[in-house]
Amino acid sequence: MADHKIGKIKSIAGPLVIAKDMRGCEMYEVVRVGQEGLMGETIKLIEDLAYIQVYEDTTGLKPGEEVARTGAPLSVELGPGIITNFYDGIQRPLLGIKNQVGDYITRGVNVPGLDPEKKWDFTPTVKRGDRLVEGDIIGEVQESKVISHKIMVPPGIHGRVIEIKSGSFTVDEPMAILDDRGERQAITMKQKWPVRVGRHFKEKLDPEVPLLTGQRIYDTFFPIAKGGTAAIPGGFGTGKTVSQHQLAKWADSQVVVYVGCGERGNEMTEVLLTFPELDDPNTGEKLMERSTLIANTSNMPVAAREASIYTGVTIAEYYRDMGYNVALMADSTSRWAEALREISGRLEEMPGEEGFPAYLGTRLADFYERAGRVVTLGGEKRFGSVSIIGAVSPPGGDFSEPVAQNTLRVVSAFWALDTNLADRRHFPAINWLTSYSLYLDFVKPWYDKNIDREFQTLRGEMMAVLEKEAELQEIVQLVGQDALPESDRALLEVARMIREDYLQQHAYHEIDSYCSKEKQYLMLKVIMRFYQEVKGAIESGIVASRITAMKIKDEIARMKYIPNPDFPRRYEKVIKSIAGEFESLRNQR
Ligand SMILES: Nc1ncnc2c1ncn2[C@@H]1O[C@H](COP(=O)(O)OP(=O)(O)O)[C@@H](O)[C@H]1O
Ligand SMILES: [Mg+2]
Repeated sequence: MADHKIGKIKSIAGPLVIAKDMRGCEMYEVVRVGQEGLMGETIKLIEDLAYIQVYEDTTGLKPGEEVARTGAPLSVELGPGIITNFYDGIQRPLLGIKNQVGDYITRGVNVPGLDPEKKWDFTPTVKRGDRLVEGDIIGEVQESKVISHKIMVPPGIHGRVIEIKSGSFTVDEPMAILDDRGERQAITMKQKWPVRVGRHFKEKLDPEVPLLTGQRIYDTFFPIAKGGTAAIPGGFGTGKTVSQHQLAKWADSQVVVYVGCGERGNEMTEVLLTFPELDDPNTGEKLMERSTLIANTSNMPVAAREASIYTGVTIAEYYRDMGYNVALMADSTSRWAEALREISGRLEEMPGEEGFPAYLGTRLADFYERAGRVVTLGGEKRFGSVSIIGAVSPPGGDFSEPVAQNTLRVVSAFWALDTNLADRRHFPAINWLTSYSLYLDFVKPWYDKNIDREFQTLRGEMMAVLEKEAELQEIVQLVGQDALPESDRALLEVARMIREDYLQQHAYHEIDSYCSKEKQYLMLKVIMRFYQEVKGAIESGIVASRITAMKIKDEIARMKYIPNPDFPRRYEKVIKSIAGEFESLRNQR
């Protein structure tokens, strides 16, 4: 039977439209629905019926209106203009947001992801006669104050340069022509890529290089690798957003893709107004100068939210291909999963746990699978990475629900936010007993080489103190602190020091907000040196209450506020003070 380019609306249910006479339509093909040409995507096909998720409000659509196929899958436009931009879930620029919170884009308007009018200054880095393959960089554009955008030979194209120009071009004007086996290929600054397919690369590498964050709880205890995956689950108000912002600001990635899925209407403000205000401490500019923001709020159509993480990760992969380390933050993936659930419900699919579709786990896995540190396409050996950090907001902070559980299965670092810690104002409220990182062993050689071989040993000893503390606390609950031997009481003192002086890190403190790897190492050494002395003192018969009263503890507590560059000098002093004060403690007996 002949394929149909135009079908008709059969029925409408919220974001889902069923169209008939759609034989030949592809899965995930983009269609234009109704007189207004609302954008939609085919997500299920049965005979001549196409089930379409529509990215715009479907109010007013009527059965019988036309549905036109476009023949193309949902794609993003890739090229200069993405950095500093704000988009909705299908890469439509959100303009004038501040004035029109809530009401964002006129329906059916086809706004391109890249501004077709804007001219960019292109500087070539290849010359006539050069032989190029897909992924090769042909030149650069200064995209923002801090990002140099590499223009690459698009996938599938190779050949000899027969023309290359420098100057100002729009994203549609060719600056280069390649001779591809006798065929002339014009190259522009714009590429298109279907969002549901990962961009190609040569090789995926083991996660051996850490993504340093300047946050002690991650770098020391639960590291994430470049190209790694991490989840931050937590109930309302436990610090998901603050953590994501801290990571965006301080992680040693060059490009940030921030996908904000608002929890409630007023969080529109949070995503769209707070993020652009963030400063980038590394460049002195706004963080937006190396970021792109994809915003979905609860009042935007649910299907656009479903698409948003794919749009985000495709953009992230594109900058990875240029050789950048990219960090993708998704806050929160629970809102994305709820969009998936709503659409699945409309499709009348068999619901799984808590109404989520049975394929929730697969979809989450497919998304996180797109993270990685890779050797990119192109003749020169170039490395790039996409690290994915997803917040999860389980209702009531209960991690046994499906989104948290399925996420836990696929990510390699799990940073569990804890309501009790947040209530006690222990920030970041990451529970050190339930969190984990599978990257610890992978990054060990890097830590050994670039920090110190002792680093992870000290980390292990510190963790052992914290674990012992948890055990002792159970005993204390039953029989009280007095029942503990002096050595255990002293250990509780050290554990408190670790929690308060090391794990707690103030996001809004000028200095403490970022802790270099060198400072982390020296702080570890100080606290574990203190612990050694404590053990020695207890053995020589000194009671724990004398240790509790020591002056040096205040000096240790102030370490986090010492600027990173000054720290090595201060470290020597603190170590001397520790030795001195324990010396006099022993002499006083
Ligand atoms: N690392 C931190 N340092 C200081 N305060 C924090 C930190 N993390 C969270 N907070 C506090 O907790 C509040 C709630 O955090 P937020 O990230 O908005 O929670 P969530 O996104 O999980 O709902 C913040 O407004 C802030 O006061
Ligand atoms: Mg939040």
